[in-house]
Amino acid sequence: MKRDWNNELETDVILQNQMIIADIFKRNMDFVNNNGRKRKYFIETYGCQMNEHDSEKLSAMLLQMGFEAGMLRDKADIIIFNTCCIRENAELKVYGNLGHMKSLKRKNPDLIIAVCGCMMQQAHIVDEIKNKYKHVDLVFGTHNVHNFPKLLMDVLKTPKNLIVEVWENEGKIIEGMPVDRKYITKAFVNIMYGCNNFCTYCVVPYVRGRERSRSVEAIVSEIETLVSRGTKEVTLLGQNVNSYGKTLEEKTDFADLLRRINDIDGLKRLRFMTSHPKDISKKLIDTMAECDKVCNQLHLPVQSGSNPVLKAMNRHYNVERYMEMINYAKSKIPNLAISTDLIIGFPSETEEDVEKTIELIKEVDYTTAFTFIYSVRKGTPAAEFDNQIPEDIKHKRFERVLKVLNDGIGIKMQSYMGKTLEVLVDDVNFKDDSVLTGRSTENITVNFKGDKSLIGEIVKVKITKPKQFSLYGEYIN
Ligand code: 5AD
Ligand code: SF4
Repeated sequence: MKRDWNNELETDVILQNQMIIADIFKRNMDFVNNNGRKRKYFIETYGCQMNEHDSEKLSAMLLQMGFEAGMLRDKADIIIFNTCCIRENAELKVYGNLGHMKSLKRKNPDLIIAVCGCMMQQAHIVDEIKNKYKHVDLVFGTHNVHNFPKLLMDVLKTPKNLIVEVWENEGKIIEGMPVDRKYITKAFVNIMYGCNNFCTYCVVPYVRGRERSRSVEAIVSEIETLVSRGTKEVTLLGQNVNSYGKTLEEKTDFADLLRRINDIDGLKRLRFMTSHPKDISKKLIDTMAECDKVCNQLHLPVQSGSNPVLKAMNRHYNVERYMEMINYAKSKIPNLAISTDLIIGFPSETEEDVEKTIELIKEVDYTTAFTFIYSVRKGTPAAEFDNQIPEDIKHKRFERVLKVLNDGIGIKMQSYMGKTLEVLVDDVNFKDDSVLTGRSTENITVNFKGDKSLIGEIVKVKITKPKQFSLYGEYIN
């Protein structure tokens, strides 16, 4: 369904939704009076931080409507699946879980099942839901999350009918939506939405729309409010943060934004993701080096260490340019921790290409890497490439690359032995509650024995036992 945003003001949208929220709240209070309990919701989120953040918005709207968060999915009155379609296995998980919902709905016909997120932006998937998952009540997409109250009201008014509202195009950015944040000390803040890059393997530009930036003013004001409520660390989110500002009238770029946020009093740490190697500039690296709150961490997805593969992926940089930026960043930022994303088994990839990827991994010396087996995505150019790699070969190559990566990461972790790191304490360790867990400025997980009162604080920890993917240390009082 297309939408004419020129006729719909942002404030009108928020006001309309506030009225519907109040209406649903009244219905929910009647439910409490009749049943002696609140209706519970459960949101199951798949995929990236963008989806996590959308779920935080949905959660805030549900709380305003008088629902309460449930701990167990299968005991909830409304279940929302916020889906991801970046790789096939993410989709298969959603279908599996939706299948399981059939028997739950049979037992409890009042249960409301909603499905949203990236998968729903694809017509063939919505058709599949309509045909095979008739127990689903509501389908909506990534561009109309803010309209969730209205859609839920439609479901409540017409039970047993499937409500589907997926917008083909992104609308205006809606500011001022409530957000129920998972953590107080650490917050994710969107600085832009969508992507214009069309890497040939990637479905994101088709499901998240064109690139659009939030204004500096809106971002700064959101972070100032967060900081006033106790946030110490902010991670700025965007598919390609290095092209921040291109859609704004004011002349600004990501480096300017970083500098502006670095000036916010009370904020302690600043991170961002994701940077695109084609757009990362020396100006940005200089800014990172000069801004004291920007963490010594850089996530720069390379995807492949071979130029012909990078070209086929439509990445618009080559290995030489990537290494030039990596070496520049290493020279400017002491103790920089570099991480990456890699795709193994992209169409046309040869054994020689895999060797080149391995060479690059060794040269960069990554602290972390997210490695993925290429997954064919319907509607993307690479799905039509005729030189697809057989599954068994993809898996063998993946294992080979992973071994090299893990060996390198293990050695890297050992290099922290005896060093003192600054750790923002997140929580108690889920296995042992006498142990606290947090993140260093390099974004490495650090565990140490300490009192729960340290949660939310930035403390010094001396590393005494490096592990394969995390560090163990002693709290220095
Ligand atoms: N197959 C495998 N990995 C993919 N990614 C994106 N699309 C695909 C795909 N079709 C990976 C890329 C990207 C990360 C978020 O997901 O490495 O950087
Ligand atoms: Fe996908 Fe490429 Fe955009 Fe990243 S930059 S979201 S990989 S199209």
